[in-house]
Amino acid sequence: MTSLLTAANVDASRADVGTAQAVRLRGVERSFPRSRGSHDVLRGIELDVGAGEIVAIVGPSGCGKSTLLRLVGGLDAPTGGSIQIAGSSVADVDERTAVAFQEPRLLPWRTIAQNVEIGLPRGTSRRDGRARVRELLALVGLEHAADQHPSEVSGGMAQRASLARALARNPGVLLLDEPFGALDALTRLRMHDLLLKIHAVEPTTVLLVTHDVEEALYLADRVLLLRTLADDTDAEAASIARTVAVPGIRPRDRADRGPADLRAELLEGLGVDTHHRTALEETR
Ligand SMILES: Nc1ncnc2c1ncn2[C@@H]1O[C@H](COP(=O)(O)OP(=O)(O)OP(=O)(O)O)[C@@H](O)[C@H]1O
Ligand SMILES: [Mg+2]
Repeated sequence: MTSLLTAANVDASRADVGTAQAVRLRGVERSFPRSRGSHDVLRGIELDVGAGEIVAIVGPSGCGKSTLLRLVGGLDAPTGGSIQIAGSSVADVDERTAVAFQEPRLLPWRTIAQNVEIGLPRGTSRRDGRARVRELLALVGLEHAADQHPSEVSGGMAQRASLARALARNPGVLLLDEPFGALDALTRLRMHDLLLKIHAVEPTTVLLVTHDVEEALYLADRVLLLRTLADDTDAEAASIARTVAVPGIRPRDRADRGPADLRAELLEGLGVDTHHRTALEETR
């Protein structure tokens, strides 16, 4: 593993993809039985995520984003199609993946360090575990809070502990379900840069569900829009309706006005009227 001393100098745009794993979805479907018939949530999901890639998933509420992440993590099984990580099928609660949610979900009776410890792979020796927890707490800037309990730390600190716990098992694929959604705007911006630092230091593939188009465009290599296809008005199941490749290398310039067209494309895909005019239209 990269030492934390050198990690501070790592260029976040050039993650070493050593332990990161590729994800492949083919014809993935998920439907839930109902008293009459079934509720088709996802259909025809085809996706290849390269090792070390950061892919953001946006889509209207209830379209199946969390369901999709749960499928990739093996927390739920598809009703059709296949999901592979590094060429082999995802098995229930796949140990190659780790998940972090909108709420940190820390155990209140354990300290921050003990909560991070929960994420360690089974069979980790006490000594290695202690060193690894210390290293992760340093990575997320929580060394000083190791012995505090979740009720004694801020929301942002709790969320950093949750990220450290997810990283503890060296996941090949990190699944993030609106991880910054409950944080204030400024903390969220700081967390973005922390995620990029983590991505550089602890090589992993990231699938990030977010409602925040800015966040998606700042962090991701590609942004997927999950929703029912416009030309399939009878369908209730969602598919990947659009894929947007985000230009520029990370860390990106937050003040860059360049991706305005992409932002508008995504927001309009989400059903938001942006009143956006392209550069060509501006000159008319
Ligand atoms: N275990 C389940 N049983 C039945 N229906 C479910 C189950 N899990 C999810 N669903 C349904 O699947 C659909 C998609 O849910 P999901 O939580 O994936 O949406 P989402 O895109 O993450 O929404 P949000 O943006 O609000 O978090 C919803 O209609 C939900 O009711
Ligand atoms: Mg969700």
